[in-house]
Amino acid sequence: MADAGLLIDMRGIVKTYNPGEPSEVRVLHGIDFHTEQGEFVSIVGPSGCGKSTLMNLIGMLDKPTEGAYAFNGEPVYAKNDDELAVYRSRNIGFIFQNFNLVGRIDALQNVAMPMMYAGVGKAEREERAAELLARVGMGERLHHNPNELSGGQKQRVAIARSLANDPDLLLADEPTGALDSSTGRMVMDLFHELNQDLGKAIVFITHNPDLAEETGRIVEMMDGRISGIRTPASGAHTEVDPR
Ligand SMILES: Nc1ncnc2c1ncn2[C@@H]1O[C@H](COP(=O)(O)OP(=O)(O)OP(=O)(O)O)[C@@H](O)[C@H]1O
Ligand SMILES: [Mg+2]
Repeated sequence: MADAGLLIDMRGIVKTYNPGEPSEVRVLHGIDFHTEQGEFVSIVGPSGCGKSTLMNLIGMLDKPTEGAYAFNGEPVYAKNDDELAVYRSRNIGFIFQNFNLVGRIDALQNVAMPMMYAGVGKAEREERAAELLARVGMGERLHHNPNELSGGQKQRVAIARSLANDPDLLLADEPTGALDSSTGRMVMDLFHELNQDLGKAIVFITHNPDLAEETGRIVEMMDGRISGIRTPASGAHTEVDPR
């Protein structure tokens, strides 16, 4: 059985887009990736190396061409698409570079939306959404629409939304990529808080090496493979044998 502390356990992940077509492209070449419960791990690597592709697989938004994935010890690919959608919404929160908020509804309704899909009643989800927005420092902006918010404020709303169903895992794909450095700093501080105070595991994709250094472990990718794994605190570095 899997290690009790393991949250993400992916083995031999291969991803080929458009298989069998002239546009076929193999993007991930057999990745082993794991994350412990409550771990804060970053993924770094050049543009096009496959970070977002891997993130989509971790987030159960897509399936690999080959490979196995256990989440919290449960085999993910044993579930059908409907089961997977429910499982994903309960266990994983997503944060993107461009926030992906719904434009015509206010911050409160954006945060409440994932709870609606999870079957939580209106009064309860609005109460919890207000609490989550207060948690991220947006308690004064509940009824602002996204176009009335700054980038950093939008990202805080998106982070509150990612927490809606109290997931074990947050997946953040370049969450500071569209923000200036001081706003990015604020968002990063919030991730540290959620990791330390709420025990959320976070997988964080970034092009910013300084931010990656703040996380517990750095996974380096290159051309669809993991090329190295580093623990910033100890400086220990493992070269991963490219296959
Ligand atoms: N849906 C798709 N169909 C075909 N090819 C794709 C698809 N999505 C991604 N790719 C290709 O897969 C490769 C990896 O893309 P991916 O988005 O994972 O890179 P990335 O590391 O996240 O890059 P960036 O840092 O620029 O965001 C790229 O060559 C890209 O063109
Ligand atoms: Mg990407």
